[in-house]
Formats: sequence, C-alpha cells, structure tokens
Amino acid sequence: MRALLCRAWGEPEDLELDEIAAPEPGPGEIAIAVEAAGVNFADTLIIRGKYQEKPPFPFAPGLEVAGTVAALGEGVQSFRVGDPVMGIPGHGGYAEVAVAKASDVFHRPAGFDAAIAAGFPITYGTAHGALVWRADLQPGETLLVHGAAGGTGLAAVEVGKALGATVIATAGSADKLAVAQAHGADHLINYREEDLRTRVKEITGGRGADVVFDPVGGKVFEASLRCAAWEGRLVVIGFAAGDVQQIPANLLLVKNLAAFGFYWGSYRKNAPARVRAQFEQLAAWAAEGKLRPRVSHRLPLARGAEALRLLERRAATGKVVLEVSR
Ligand SMILES: NC(=O)c1ccc[n+]([C@@H]2O[C@H](COP(=O)([O-])OP(=O)(O)OC[C@H]3O[C@@H](n4cnc5c(N)ncnc54)[C@H](OP(=O)(O)O)[C@@H]3O)[C@@H](O)[C@H]2O)c1
Repeated sequence: MRALLCRAWGEPEDLELDEIAAPEPGPGEIAIAVEAAGVNFADTLIIRGKYQEKPPFPFAPGLEVAGTVAALGEGVQSFRVGDPVMGIPGHGGYAEVAVAKASDVFHRPAGFDAAIAAGFPITYGTAHGALVWRADLQPGETLLVHGAAGGTGLAAVEVGKALGATVIATAGSADKLAVAQAHGADHLINYREEDLRTRVKEITGGRGADVVFDPVGGKVFEASLRCAAWEGRLVVIGFAAGDVQQIPANLLLVKNLAAFGFYWGSYRKNAPARVRAQFEQLAAWAAEGKLRPRVSHRLPLARGAEALRLLERRAATGKVVLEVSR
C-alpha cells in the first residue's frame, strides 16, 4: 500500500511517500481501507518526536480516518467488510490501510462523504464531551468559544447551538469570524483587535460567559477568567497559541469559577460506552441538520506536508483532510 512515512524525527517536508506492506488486524481490531485522513495538530508533534506516543520507525502519522472496513480481526462482530466507517487508529492514517481497535471505529453518519467523516470524530467528540460531560452547558447559557473557526472551535460553536446556548465566537480575522457566524455563532469578537473582557461584558450585559471552551490558551485564557460569569466553567482543550494556560486560584475563588481539563482520547480508553453513545447523539444532530462539519482544504496524500503547514500557519478553517485514495 502507499503510505506517507516518517523515517526519522523531522519536519513535514521530510515525510516520504512510499510502498509498504499493509497492516493486518489483530484480535479485536479492524483494518480500514482509508479514503481520507483528518489532519490534526498532534500530527505535527508526532513527526517531530514531541508527542506522548512515539511509534517505531518507519510509521505514518494520521490519528483519524474514514473509509470502508477492509478486514475484521478475531472476535469483531459489530461490523461487516465493506461498511462505511470512521475511526481513530492513533497513528498510521496517512496510508491506504489503517488498523484501529473496534472500540475506536464508528459507523459513518448518513450523508457524510469520506472527507467530512475523516475530520469529524476528534473535533466533534471533543466539543461534545467538553461541553456536556465536563461543563454541563445548559440551554439559555452563554458559551464563549475561542479559536472558533478552527477544528475543535467550530465544532464547539455547532454543539453549543445544538444544546441551546447563546454562542460568542472569537477568532483572529474577519474571514474566520464570518465562518463561525455561518455555523451558528450569535456574537463575534476579533481577539487580535478587540478587548475580550470588555466585549464579553458588553454582549452579556455585564454578567459574563457561563462556559468557556479554550483550545487556544495563553493570554486568551487569562482574559477569559476575567469575563467568566459567577459560577462559570472554563474548559482547557489545548494550547494552539503555544503557551500553557496559568490559573491564579484567587480568581477562581472570588467568582466561584471551575476550571477543567478535558482530553477526549482518555474517554476512548476509560469510558468507551459513553463515547459510542456520544456518536449516536452527534449522528442524530447531523441528521437533523444541526451539525454541518466544514473541510476547508482537501489535498492528496502526496501533499501531506502542505496540509500540516496549513494548520501551523493558521490558514485552515474547520478541518484539513488528505484524500488518500486520490
Ligand atoms: N483536549 C482534547 O481532547 C483535544 C482534542 C483535539 C485537539 N486538541 C488540541 O486543541 C488545540 C486546537 O486544536 P484544533 O483542532 O482546534 O486546531 P486548529 O484547527 O489548528 O485551530 C486552532 C485555532 O487556534 C488559533 N490559534 C491561535 N494562536 C495560534 C497559533 N499560534 N498557531 C495556530 N493556531 C493558533 C487559530 O485561530 P485564529 O487564527 O482565529 O486565532 C486556529 O484556528 C491543539 O492544541 C490540539 O492539540 C485537544
């Protein structure tokens, strides 16, 4: 099979397109004939040896894929060869065949083509889990979403609207804010040009945001602590801006705030039944037209380096996807 391989820690341009033997599914695993692979920030780390997982060389990056079931490992009963699926192999997605645990494979929601499905599990799983399981977002509450035109941010805008919240979206340009608005955001803030705290207070009549979804970190998180409502909940999703959020506990105390970390991948290991139920809810919302996942760039496998650079340059909105079978 063709695969885009990492042979040593390096830069995106060091990845090599090559032919290798296709992996076979072991017990409890599924081999997926990959049509498309979602491109994630973690892929930029795994090829540099900066991610928690360090696979043996050579390996293909690629956390999440969509395609059809190619082969079933021993004991797998809930899928048939040929089923359209999406799944999370962890790595190995930038290849024509990827193997994932059956518990990490899901039927593709009706109407999702492979590119849409390939970029769906991690962003929407993260947005839903953070807002429902951790923040307990309620209808009528105000949700502040940072990096709202990015992968997890745009998913959080849509999930927030599906849950009945008023959504305030932040992003770094007018074009990105327009994307967030087209996906349902009620209020828009350009956090490169406007003062976050002042604008959130204006929009909420001085009350502040009930829930903050933060994949960006750094100064944006610090400002969020100051514009969260009494009993507000802040969910730490990631550090796209490069600085890990710092939390002065006095700010938590005076406004009865709660700050949570949220790592979706840990639920796949610790609570797989909850994740499967989550995907049923997300598929139902998609069927009702409440979720419209966006893919801003579809590139062939050979242009994987360019796909990773798009993320690093903040040039993507929604997801970047590699069309592996192209
Ligand atoms: N906790 C979890 O389970 C989980 C799951 C998925 C991802 N993550 C993490 O969450 C973070 C965001 O993931 P994502 O999929 O939303 O990524 P993404 O699609 O690249 O979006 C990130 C957004 O952050 C903003 N940003 C601000 N400063 C940036 C910088 N210096 N470089 C790049 N982007 C910057 C950009 O928006 P503007 O240009 O509008 O500022 C961009 O749209 C990453 O750290 C990722 O590892 C965590």
